Amino acid sequence: MTAPFEPVPTLEAPFWRLYRDFFDLAERNRRWSIADDVPWGRCNPQLDPAIAHVVESFCAVELYLPDYTSKILPVVRPSKGRTWFYANWGYEESKHSLALADWLLRSGQRSDGQMADLERSVFAREWNLPQDSHLGMLVYATVQELATAVSYRNLRRRCAEHGGDPALERLLALVAVDEQAHYDFFRRCLGLYLAHDREGTLEQLRRVMNAFTMPAIHDLLGESRQRVARIRELSIFDEDTYYREVYLPVLAFLGVDRSEMRNRMPHKKSAPPAA
Ligand SMILES: [Fe+2]
Ligand SMILES: [Fe+2]
Repeated sequence: MTAPFEPVPTLEAPFWRLYRDFFDLAERNRRWSIADDVPWGRCNPQLDPAIAHVVESFCAVELYLPDYTSKILPVVRPSKGRTWFYANWGYEESKHSLALADWLLRSGQRSDGQMADLERSVFAREWNLPQDSHLGMLVYATVQELATAVSYRNLRRRCAEHGGDPALERLLALVAVDEQAHYDFFRRCLGLYLAHDREGTLEQLRRVMNAFTMPAIHDLLGESRQRVARIRELSIFDEDTYYREVYLPVLAFLGVDRSEMRNRMPHKKSAPPAA
């Protein structure tokens, strides 16, 4: 169980400001339409099927949305900035899931029956919060969003290298920009906590970031070894990517030195998905 959240009164106004800035910027610059902004007529039927396997895996992660929102909202309920953020976040994540599923169908890479099977296998398992404190969840969300943005960016690059698909590439670019915006909101919230309670926040950074793993969704999808190997060959995200493109940039943004990240106590392991 994730411990109940006790808001810090002095942080509530800054959280709300962050949310309004996030929302206003999204309304002004970032809104996009699945129907109008993706060139659906330009799906490539010859695209390497390994790319579609990865899209299906990401789609499965995004499909956990009802668990993500229903479990995090009660934890952050006392904070207006954080609850309103999650309401908007849920809308954006739902769009990601719809867009990826639309591409799998419209490209002919998956049938309606296969998509129904995917949804069934996702909902057969329940996702639970991987951290036992709201601050641990904030660190987890920060890292997960940046890792997701990097993964979508790399998938777009691999797509271009493996035959290209203008519809998928456009869609992945739009989704990656959203993930980057989510990351930006969470990292700024973390910055506020760090300024308020450096030692307590550092403890959560160590616990979560030193043990972070990307979602183990291959098992969930019942993928064959051969298929998992094909996906790995694409090098979308690995430990080295995590260190260089997630771990170090998060620390740099927060002004945390690597020496402050040395573990002083046994840490808990991070677990599966969050979009
Ligand atoms: Fe997403
Ligand atoms: Fe996201």
